[in-house]
Order: sequence, then structure tokens, then C-alpha cells
Amino acid sequence: MTSKKYDLVIKNGRVIDSALGFGRNAHVFIKDGRIVKVEVDSAPIRQELRTLDSDQIIDATDKLVVPGLIDIHVHLREPGREDEETVESGCRAAAAGGFTSICCMPNTTPQIDNQGTVKFVQDRAQNTDARVFVVGAITKGQKGKELAEIGDLVKMGAVAISDDGFYVQNAEIMRRALEYARMFDIPVMQHSEDRQLCEGGMMNESYESTRLGLRGSPAVAEEVAVLRDIALCRLTEGRLHIQHITTRRAVDAVRQAKKEGVNVTAEATPHHLILTDKEISKEFNTNLRVNPPLRIEDDRDAVIEGLVDGTIDCIASDHAPHSAEEKDCEFDQAPPGMIGLETSLGLVKTFLIDKGYLSWADVIRKMTINPARILNLPGGTLEEGSLADITIIDPEKKWTVKADKFLSRSNNSPFIGQQLTCQVYKTILNGKVVFER
Ligand code: DOR
Repeated sequence: MTSKKYDLVIKNGRVIDSALGFGRNAHVFIKDGRIVKVEVDSAPIRQELRTLDSDQIIDATDKLVVPGLIDIHVHLREPGREDEETVESGCRAAAAGGFTSICCMPNTTPQIDNQGTVKFVQDRAQNTDARVFVVGAITKGQKGKELAEIGDLVKMGAVAISDDGFYVQNAEIMRRALEYARMFDIPVMQHSEDRQLCEGGMMNESYESTRLGLRGSPAVAEEVAVLRDIALCRLTEGRLHIQHITTRRAVDAVRQAKKEGVNVTAEATPHHLILTDKEISKEFNTNLRVNPPLRIEDDRDAVIEGLVDGTIDCIASDHAPHSAEEKDCEFDQAPPGMIGLETSLGLVKTFLIDKGYLSWADVIRKMTINPARILNLPGGTLEEGSLADITIIDPEKKWTVKADKFLSRSNNSPFIGQQLTCQVYKTILNGKVVFER
């Protein structure tokens, strides 16, 4: 506790907070890691600002001031592959990308399927540049055979369960997972690709895969998986979250299920919103190999439509670091995944806002309050009394993605060389600046 009335004031920024319904110039007052108030400009407020010391003030003229961004789909490679990412480096990358909270997936080595590994990651996340929320595994070792001790995981602080990377192929196990998760009021996050249908797939099954002679993973693998899980979610009245949705029919299925009142939510990644499988033949860039794969234009358009009409609740990066040694190989030998924390916001602004699909208010909702609500996370708003997790954005700043500038330990991004508009100016966690440009 300090004796000053405020620890920090962010003045003159354009505050966008979907929960507050706010989109105007205002000043944000912070004390002891909390938002004290958000005030539009007025003579008394200007008078109050004059009483502050300069070291307490950030001038956010021409900047956007928004709740700290939240990414609910991130792979930190600790434990097991600290050469690719650690909890600490992942959090540094998160802060550089404007994220103050991230949720890490359990496909580490060993997997996060028990209290010990949850605790290990939580311990590693003390004093990092972002809050880390742990997603535990659905099944032991993510093998899809036997449920993990879900109650134990939740007791230790897991905010959801997922076998991300793998679909829970056994419907009976998925049913039980939804039932258990319901008892603890957490969602089951599902990587929706039927394993048998996508066995051996290296890219989307399409004209392109035939032309390139690469084994395809069909869109129907996702459709089948999503339809089955919606049926199980309806039956169990649990909460289902579809991770990285990519196909028109899967988006239609979620739209229909929501209309019926099934408790299903969905996320989309920037790469599935922007890229298609046509990119692959240009240079066989192994950073374009992802699961689920980049789809055809019609699917990509459907994911955008789903995001615009609210069928898809949030944007998540699926930040998946892989080492240069592993990615520097033939396309079909490369592990799937690309990093995303440091490019998400710029990609969304450049390809979705600037092209007229989404407004800033939409984007902030889908990157703050919506993901917070899906996982019952703190933050996502600048309402009085809430956490002082704040992102200050320079919305028209142009920059080029460079391989050697990532704070992530990995640089497996297909967007290297891409010019983007919009950059994070400062990231504030718990009232303290953790990243500034
Ligand atoms: O492309 C992907 N990479 N998709 C996943 O689901 C897993 C991720 C990883 O862990 O590398």
C-alpha cells in the first residue's frame, strides 16, 4: 500500500471496454493493482490530474486503452521443451502482444494431468509478465483412455480441461468428462478433429492437397467431432468449448446449438481467419502446417461470418512454439503449430478491422470479456474495483513482423515479413507496466 491517492493514471486515451459499454476519451485511475475509476474529461478531473506527479501519469493521447487482453489457448512448453518456450518467456511474449492473462494447454512433457504438474506450472508463473491459468488434461496422459482426476485438477486451480492436440475419440469418456466438469462449473475445451478421419493428414483435404500430393485431413473430421460433442453437451447439460473452429459446417452446427440453448462456446484463431490452404504451395512454409489445418476460402469466410454474428465467442491464438530444427524440414515431416501471441492483435486489426468485418468494440469484446466469461477468469473489464490489467494500443502504428524480434523462444510464424497496422504500446499487469515499447 502506498500513501498516494493513485499509483498510476492513464490520461487522454480512448477507453474501449465492452462491459462498461464505453468507447470514448477518458482517464483511468489505478491504486493498489485495482481500477479506482474511469472518468471522462471534465474541469474537476483536469484539476485532479494537475495534482499528480508526472511519474504517476501515462499520456495515452491517440492510443486505445482497453482491458488487458486474454488468450485462452496458449502452449507453454514447460515442462519438457524449455528450448521452445518456458512459462517465463511465454509470458514475456504475451505481454508484448498485449495479453495480461493466458491459459496454457496441458500437452507438455509430462502432461498436466495431475495436481503436481498444475502446481509446477503455477509456481513457474509466479512473478511473470502475465497471469497464467492452467488447463488440465481431460484424460490421463492425454491418451483418451481414462479420465484424469478432474476434481483434483480443479481443486489445484485448473480453470478448464482439454486434451488439446488430440480429440477425445471415445464418446463415453467425453460424456463423463462433460458430467464431471459440470459439477465443478468448468468447460470442457475440445480439439474437434475425429482422429480416424484425419489420421496422417498434413493439410486440408481439398483440391490443393490432391494437387500437391499431400495427405489431407478432411473438413468432415471437424464436423463429425463437433456434432457429436454438441449432442453430448445437450444430454449432459455441461459446458462445451470448441477450440480453433475452422469449417463452415462446424460453425453452422454451433450456431444451431446456441439457438437451441445448448451451452456451447467457440474460439477462432487469427490464422484460420486470415489464411487458406492455397498459401501452402507458394513455398511449402512448414509454419503453415497446423492442426486443424488451414481450410478453403469458403470455410475461412464462414469462420469470419461466425465471428461477426456472435456464433464464435472469442479469438485465441493457439500459440504453439516449435524449434527451428523441428520446423526446418519437409512440409510433411514438420510438427503442427505456429506462434501467435505477438502477432494476434496486429493481424486482427489489419485483416478484420481494417477490412471492415469487425469494429474495435467487437474485437475487444472477443479478446477480453468473452474469454474471461467462458473460463470464469478475473479481468476483461475496466469496471471500478476490477484488476488493473490494461493494454494500451497504438492503433495505426505500422510495423513488420521480424523473426529476430520475437520475445517468444521460438519464431515459427508464417507472418514473418508481413506488414501489420497496430502495435501494443504498453501492457500493465496488476497496475504495473510489464511491457513498453
Ligand atoms: O497446430 C497445433 N499445434 N495444434 C494443436 O492442437 C497443438 C499445437 C501444438 O501443441 O503444437
